[in-house]
Amino acid sequence: MPDKAREHIMTASRAPGEPTTPPVSASPPPPIPGARGDGRIEVANLYKWFPGGIVLEDVSLTVNSGEFLCIVGPSGCGKTTLLRLIAGLAEIDHGAISVGGIPVTGPSPKAAVVFQHFGLFPWKTVYRNVALPLQLARAGKAETEERVREVLATVGLTGHERKYPAQLSGGMKQRAGLARALAAAPDVLLMDEPFAAVDAQVREVLQEDLLRLRDRLRQTIVFITHSIDEAITLGDRIVVMAARPGRVSREFTVPIDRPRTIAQVRRHPEYEGLREQIWAELRQPPPSTAGES
Ligand SMILES: Nc1ncnc2c1ncn2[C@@H]1O[C@H](COP(=O)(O)OP(=O)(O)OP(=O)(O)O)[C@@H](O)[C@H]1O
Ligand SMILES: [Mg+2]
Repeated sequence: MPDKAREHIMTASRAPGEPTTPPVSASPPPPIPGARGDGRIEVANLYKWFPGGIVLEDVSLTVNSGEFLCIVGPSGCGKTTLLRLIAGLAEIDHGAISVGGIPVTGPSPKAAVVFQHFGLFPWKTVYRNVALPLQLARAGKAETEERVREVLATVGLTGHERKYPAQLSGGMKQRAGLARALAAAPDVLLMDEPFAAVDAQVREVLQEDLLRLRDRLRQTIVFITHSIDEAITLGDRIVVMAARPGRVSREFTVPIDRPRTIAQVRRHPEYEGLREQIWAELRQPPPSTAGES
């Protein structure tokens, strides 16, 4: 199936009619259920070609269930392509990917994607954007209303249900995108530079929020970022990718206990050393140019 067609299936609304916006509840919401099942991701000997040439070469990696894996790497090394393949949004040319032991052959409710540019439908309210995955899963009206209320409270958007994306700040749009991803309680969250489009201050707030959410929900998370600091702040492990062709060059374990805050991470005695090592790995020249003057 063409990649664009898959994306359409993931985003198109099939449910007849849409729910009305529920009244905003003043009482605190019940805790939202986190991951329901096994979120282990296995990528084995993965290759991907595009008409321009090979993009991913022999990529193998495992993400344990409940683990927070960050991926960093130069622009064009295939990070987004890898994420789309895990999400079932693109065809695997060679190799295999499984999520929770189930081979990935197309989009699955087990995994939800959060993109950099929010992916919100501008003509739908916050409520309707967040309700979409539940409609696709053919959830009932009452269940949908309850779940949307829960996830909006979780990301701090209670009271904004009736707004349209254009009426939200960048941080609020990203929270709405995250709420939509959480709505169907996926086992796996795939996040592609989700905080890259917001300013530095909002980005730190969102990072702290995600740290807290992760401790609460226990989803398996794959998080792509260009920021080494962000990767160390959020990740249990960091995979560094190299370009031309895209491949895994090295993995680093983040030796910082959870729960953690940004301040604790920055003060950690191993923080600077780890940062330096990752920088050094990213500066490695591709094998074809190594040794050239
Ligand atoms: N649909 C496509 N058709 C052809 N080439 C593509 C397609 N999607 C990606 N590519 C190419 O594959 C390579 C990897 O792209 P990808 O978007 O995965 O990189 P990335 O690591 O996410 O980069 P960035 O950090 O800039 O987001 C690039 O050379 C890109 O031009
Ligand atoms: Mg990308």
